[in-house]
Amino acid sequence: MRAAVLGGGPGGLNFAISLKLRDPAHDVLVIERNRPGDTFGWGVVLSDETLHKLETNDPVSAKAINESFAYWDDIAVHYRGAVVRSGGHGFSGISRKRLLAILQERARALGVTIRFETEAEPVEAYRDYDLIVGADGANSRVRAARADVFQPDIDVRACKYTWLGTHQKFDDAFTFIFEETEHGWIWAHAYQFDADTATFIVECSEATWRRIGFERMTTEETIAACEGIFARNLGGHALMSNARHLRGSAWLNFNRVLCAHWSHDNIVLLGDAAATAHFSVGSGSKLAMESAIALANYVASEPTLKDAFVRYESERRLEVLRLQNAARNSTEWFEDIERYLNLDPVQFNYSLLTRSQRISHENLRQRDARWLDGAEKWFEERATGRRPNISRPPMFVPFRVRGIELKNRVCVSPMAQYKAKDGTPNDWHFVHYAERAKGGAGLVFTEMTCVSPEGRISPGCTGLYREEHEGAWRRLVDFVHAETEAKIAIQLGHSGPKGSTQLGWEEMDAPLPRDNWPVVGPSAVPWSPENQMPRELSHADMDKIREEFVRSAEMAARIGFDWLELHYAHGYLMSSFITPLTNRRTDEYGGSLDNRMRFPLEVLRAVRRVWPDEKPMSVRISAHDWVGRDGVQPQDAVAIARLLAENGVDLVDVSAGQTSKRAQPVYGRMFQTPFSDRIRNEAGVATLSVGNIFEPDHVNSILMAGRADLVCLARAHLADPYWTLHAAADLHYTGVNWPKPYWSGRDQLNRLKARTEAPIGKV
Ligand SMILES: Cc1cc2nc3c(=O)[nH]c(=O)nc-3n(C[C@H](O)[C@H](O)[C@H](O)COP(=O)(O)OP(=O)(O)OC[C@H]3O[C@@H](n4cnc5c(N)ncnc54)[C@H](O)[C@@H]3O)c2cc1C
Ligand SMILES: Cc1cc2nc3c(=O)[nH]c(=O)nc-3n(C[C@H](O)[C@H](O)[C@H](O)COP(=O)(O)O)c2cc1C
Repeated sequence: MRAAVLGGGPGGLNFAISLKLRDPAHDVLVIERNRPGDTFGWGVVLSDETLHKLETNDPVSAKAINESFAYWDDIAVHYRGAVVRSGGHGFSGISRKRLLAILQERARALGVTIRFETEAEPVEAYRDYDLIVGADGANSRVRAARADVFQPDIDVRACKYTWLGTHQKFDDAFTFIFEETEHGWIWAHAYQFDADTATFIVECSEATWRRIGFERMTTEETIAACEGIFARNLGGHALMSNARHLRGSAWLNFNRVLCAHWSHDNIVLLGDAAATAHFSVGSGSKLAMESAIALANYVASEPTLKDAFVRYESERRLEVLRLQNAARNSTEWFEDIERYLNLDPVQFNYSLLTRSQRISHENLRQRDARWLDGAEKWFEERATGRRPNISRPPMFVPFRVRGIELKNRVCVSPMAQYKAKDGTPNDWHFVHYAERAKGGAGLVFTEMTCVSPEGRISPGCTGLYREEHEGAWRRLVDFVHAETEAKIAIQLGHSGPKGSTQLGWEEMDAPLPRDNWPVVGPSAVPWSPENQMPRELSHADMDKIREEFVRSAEMAARIGFDWLELHYAHGYLMSSFITPLTNRRTDEYGGSLDNRMRFPLEVLRAVRRVWPDEKPMSVRISAHDWVGRDGVQPQDAVAIARLLAENGVDLVDVSAGQTSKRAQPVYGRMFQTPFSDRIRNEAGVATLSVGNIFEPDHVNSILMAGRADLVCLARAHLADPYWTLHAAADLHYTGVNWPKPYWSGRDQLNRLKARTEAPIGKV
């Protein structure tokens, strides 16, 4: 076979080597525009997993790479005058020049022809070749020339970066340095890659970059400015650029590349040309080299090139998407860094280490148990004012707000049971909520409990508008207070345009087959073409509904609920005022966000006035309508949270969606937590996070990273009322109190766990 490889980076060279290794008779040509020793960038980091794959593929080049490695274990974070260091991270670094030299030498030894200082021609020029590999990097011309078939999606990321080097030693740790200048924050990612050289990538927001004046600076001036900014960490050493052979600015924006297709006829894309991963997860060379091996394998094993390309793409696309997902989280963390710059150094470090969501709380314990132990103690000391002798997982640290203390930070999320008659909770509700209160959660929310019969979602919804409702709820609240350590919260709401619908397990959100009651809303906009047209509320109607909320809140206070939550999410009445999708009013209750928030805030203030001062209030919101610019977006949610806090709300319960049939939500583990993170750290408002959180590890990571103050689990609590007690057993944490009659069950569970598992937590 004759193969033309356009581009002699790690991807192209490794593919040429791998192809020759599989059949020395192949005629392989590599075209590279640079000279052999020319290269941008300084060092690259490779994981043990990649090294293992390189070794299996070609022990000769792998040995040479291994011998050129610098190894280190720690990550050090320089931030606000403190250096926080954690261990167990295990990296290997190599100079990009050295890596390419090894691969070039090996390729030549195997009989590959490398043509340096040669610009690749358009692919038509290689029509005599059986296979053409586009390995020409992130700005691939091969890809651009056939953009119609490859369909690249290029996302230009917000930060500016420049890839520099230095002889200052960073040989003891992968080092992040955050510096505050009068023009804004700027940071460096620094790591050693040979005996006397380290990579030093400098990055900042575009706004800071402009204010510092980098836009107008030559490369020399840029270097001098960076040397000044990072002088404290450079120990008198210079910064060096080896991008001088590149035209234009030394500053770049990272391009996230993903192509819909990776091959066409006999042309295939490889490495950065097909897909890139942000440098902050250090995996681009890994992706390129591993993909090169996979491509060579399939070219050798499959009967036709077409078959080889199909198998190559289906195997590698999955890996690329996985890494791009982690890389996106990491990229966004750096782009949104201003949000985290008020965090204490311990929490800032934790947030940085877990930014890609690939490393969890227990992963960190495995890497550096001592550091995590200190971080957990810090978390508890900040919450309680006392430094503990023995640390405990963050989920078990108490939470205080107003006059209430929750024994831990796990909440049973509000979940409609659809089992009430005329709004009255019955034995089902008693047993359901009482079980969850016994199950160890710090706070148990009731389902959305409606302020009027018309305000119910379905005929099965609970209410708090009649005397018998008060009595039935009191029985439950008294039990929870007498027999458990949990606190109990009532969630109050009004269904608005999503009222008069079927039970949750029937056709959700669809109108009743008969006996519908009229529904109301801010405007005459129905939930769907099948649902009733809501009657637009008059000002007098709104006053009446406000007073209904007040009446229910007074009842809740009399009953003795510990906490009150207003349901302003999921398309129900208050949510339908907040989102422009359903609020089309032209009076002072529609239009701008301030106007759309006017009625929800009037209700909030009226409720706060009658709700006891010593008891907390939260409001659940939909932080994202998932319909793009037409609806509420996370940045609007920050403004909404600020308004709520200014009007007496202690915590915002951050949910999302269910406000429009057009919504296109992006699901995944902890998928709504980024909105909670943003609200908490931008608006400075305490939050509850909810949404596909189901493992103790998720809860601990969210809390420890400061992405929420409390965590709600819904479906996990339907499957297991004792979720919290079981989580404690899984973590080998014995500081929870089981109900006395269940002690022998607890002891057996703990014994069985101790027998089958090595402890990952502590007592
Ligand atoms: C700041 C930064 C830091 C990084 N750090 C790491 C890290 O620590 N670990 C890691 O794994 N990855 C890292 N990466 C990513 C890594 O550099 C790339 O993912 C990797 O180099 C991709 O290899 P490649 O062979 O696909 O492309 P490239 O390395 O870009 O190679 C493409 C080659 O094609 C040549 N070429 C392009 N066009 C033509 C043409 N028309 N004619 C002839 N030749 C051409 C180029 O000169 C180049 O040599 C980093 C990237 C950046 C930007
Ligand atoms: C059966 C069921 C009923 C729900 N009822 C309510 C409700 O009354 N009020 C509310 O705010 N959210 C309600 N939700 C949403 C949950 O509180 C939670 O936000 C959602 O299920 C995502 O959390 P999870 O992934 O932990 O299940 C309900 C969810 C379920 C599964």
